[in-house]
Amino acid sequence: MPTRQNWFDGWRLFALLSLTLLALSIWIAGMRSFEVEGVRMVIRFTARTSLVLFCLAFSAALALMWPNAWTRWLRRNRRYLGVSFAASHAIHAVAIIAFAIMDPAGYAAATSIASYIFGGIGYAFIIAMAATSFDRTAAAIGARAWRRLHLAGGYYLLFQFMVSFGKRIPDMPLYALFLIPLVAVFALRMIAMAPRAKQTVQAG
Ligand code: HEM
Repeated sequence: MPTRQNWFDGWRLFALLSLTLLALSIWIAGMRSFEVEGVRMVIRFTARTSLVLFCLAFSAALALMWPNAWTRWLRRNRRYLGVSFAASHAIHAVAIIAFAIMDPAGYAAATSIASYIFGGIGYAFIIAMAATSFDRTAAAIGARAWRRLHLAGGYYLLFQFMVSFGKRIPDMPLYALFLIPLVAVFALRMIAMAPRAKQTVQAG
C-alpha cells in the first residue's frame, strides 16, 4: 500500500505531477502569448512528458529483477504514474483541439488519416486504462481482463510513441534520442519476462 504522508507517493504524487504539468503548459503557451506557436509547443512538451511518465509506469517490472528502494517506489506508484501519463495526454488533447481551432490549415498539414486512426486507438486505450485504474473499476472488470487491457494498451502505446517520434527522425535526426528509453523499456520487459516464461514451460 502506498504511504500517503508525502507528496511522492500515491494520489498526492498524481496531484503534484498533473498540476505541475498543467502549470508548465500554461506557462509555455503564455510565453508565445497563447498564439498557435505556443499551443504547438504545448503539444510537443506534453508528448515528451507523456513519454517519461509512460516509460516509468511501464518499467515497473524492474522491481522483479532488481529490488531496491527506487524500483520498489516505481512499482508501488505505477498506477499513479500511469494516471499522471493520462493527465499529460489529456493536456496533449486539449492543445491539439486548440491547434485545430486556431490554425485549421496548419493543423491539417500536421495530421493525416493515419494519425487519427492510430492516435484515436491510442486515446481509446488511455481512457480505458485510466478508467480501470481505481480499485472499484479494476475489480469490476476482473483481474484477467484488467491485465489483458493494460498489457495490450501498454505495448500499443509503446509502438505509437516509437512511430510518432520515429517518423520525425528523417527531418530531425536528434529525435532518435527519444527512442532510447522506449527500446530500453521494451528490452527490460522482455528480460523480466524471460525467467517466468521458462518456469511456465517447465511447469507445463
Ligand atoms: C487523434 C489523436 C492524436 C492527434 C490528432 C495528435 C496530433 C498531434 C500533432 C498535430 C502533433 C504535432 C504538433 C506540432 O508539430 O506542432 C503531435 C505530436 C506528437 N504526438 Fe500526438 N496526436 C494524437 C495522439 C497521440 C498519442 C496517443 C500519442 C502517444 C502515445 C502521441 C504522441 C505524439 C508525439 C510523440 C508527438 C511528437 C512530439 C514532438 O515533436 O516532440 N499523439 N500530435
